[in-house]
Order: sequence, then C-alpha cells, then structure tokens
Amino acid sequence: MEILIDTANVEKIRRYNEILNLTGVTCNPTIISKEKGDFWKILEEIRSVIGGKQLHVQVTAPDYEGMLREADVIADRLGRENTYIKVPVNETGLHVIRTLKEKGFKVTGTAVYMTQQAMLASSVGADYVAPYFNRMNNNNVRAGEAIAEMADLFRMHGTGTKILAASFHNTQQIMDAFLAGADACTADPSYYYAMVENPLIADAVRGFDDDWKSVYGDRRIYEL
Ligand code: G3P
Repeated sequence: MEILIDTANVEKIRRYNEILNLTGVTCNPTIISKEKGDFWKILEEIRSVIGGKQLHVQVTAPDYEGMLREADVIADRLGRENTYIKVPVNETGLHVIRTLKEKGFKVTGTAVYMTQQAMLASSVGADYVAPYFNRMNNNNVRAGEAIAEMADLFRMHGTGTKILAASFHNTQQIMDAFLAGADACTADPSYYYAMVENPLIADAVRGFDDDWKSVYGDRRIYEL
C-alpha cells in the first residue's frame, strides 16, 4: 500500500513526511494555485523536503507539443528519475503519454473516470493511472467497482501499471479504494489525520492516563 499526499503546501508536506512513510507527493494545477506562490519555488522546495521520493506534477498545456515541452522542463528541474508527469487521459493525453514513455519519462495518467480510460493509458505505458474516486461517485460511477475492474485488468494482462486513486472527500473512500485493489492513494493529509484522531481514540488514551496517574502520579516510566 503506497500512501501519498495530495497537496503543494510545504509545511503540510514537511510534517507528514515525518509522520508517515510517504511514497510521495501529488499535485495538480488547482492544488498549486491554492498556494498562490512562485510555481518553481514551491515545487523545488517540495523536492528538497521529500528528497528522492515521488513527486507527481501535472502539465497545463492543452496541446501535444506544449505538454511535451512542459514535461521536459518539469523533469529537468525536479529530477527525471522520481518526477512523474501527470497527463490527463484524453486523446491528446494518450499521444503524449505514449511519446513520454518512449523517451523514458515516468508518467501518471490522470483525470480517470472510467475503466476504459485506464485501459488505454496502460496500453500506452502509463506507470500509474489516477482514478478520481469522489468525482466518479458524483457522476454515478461506482468508484470501488471501477477500481476493482482496473486492478483485475492490469493483473490479468500483466501491464505493470499501478492504480493511484485520488479525489477523496472522506476517509472511508480511501479505505474503499485500497480494498478494491488500488496500489496507492493520495489525499490531503487532513484525511490521514482524521483516521487516527477522533473522540473514541482520545477517550481510550485519557482512560489509560487517568488509571496510570491514580497509582504513579505524574511520573513517567523513565522516572520510576
Ligand atoms: O489529483 C486529483 C485530485 O486532487 C482531485 O481531487 O478533490 O478536486 O476531486 P478533487
């Protein structure tokens, strides 16, 4: 199970890179725009925080040549080995993914809503495909079932493409994606926080502390 975080906020990345065993960081033009800063400064800072971990960066140009030029400069500045070029899986995107793979880039096919998109992205060599869990559900696509289909398809044909599920709006969606067969999930760190910080857990910890203090007071184990 690969855990990634879907943010361009350097402080969040710094914190969660310490807490979790992250596979990497993903972002898209919307996520970068939220930081309202210099594009390269943000991404170079993220790269310095995460070292050699994966960084998935999306192209913004609408055309074939433009996307290839953007991919070149992204990989040059952020590292060819561990920077994944995110390309929307439409007709132009498929062409771009195919060319980028022939040139040796790492590529993530993004904006995936349907198994057929994932199938074509995989057929042209995408390293990852990114199904948008919440947006699929909002468009009457059962995201878990679609991810299970993608996982079956890739396994059956030995394509090597991995599923990097994204677009999560609650913690159960992340669990459902992994249970359906996603190799990786990327979400805002607030969802990982919510998985382990709730009143039930806090109450259990408080109970242990009360019982401990009733016998040992404020002393800790290293003081006994
Ligand atoms: O990277 C794609 C993902 O971030 C989209 O999420 O919340 O905009 O549907 P959302």
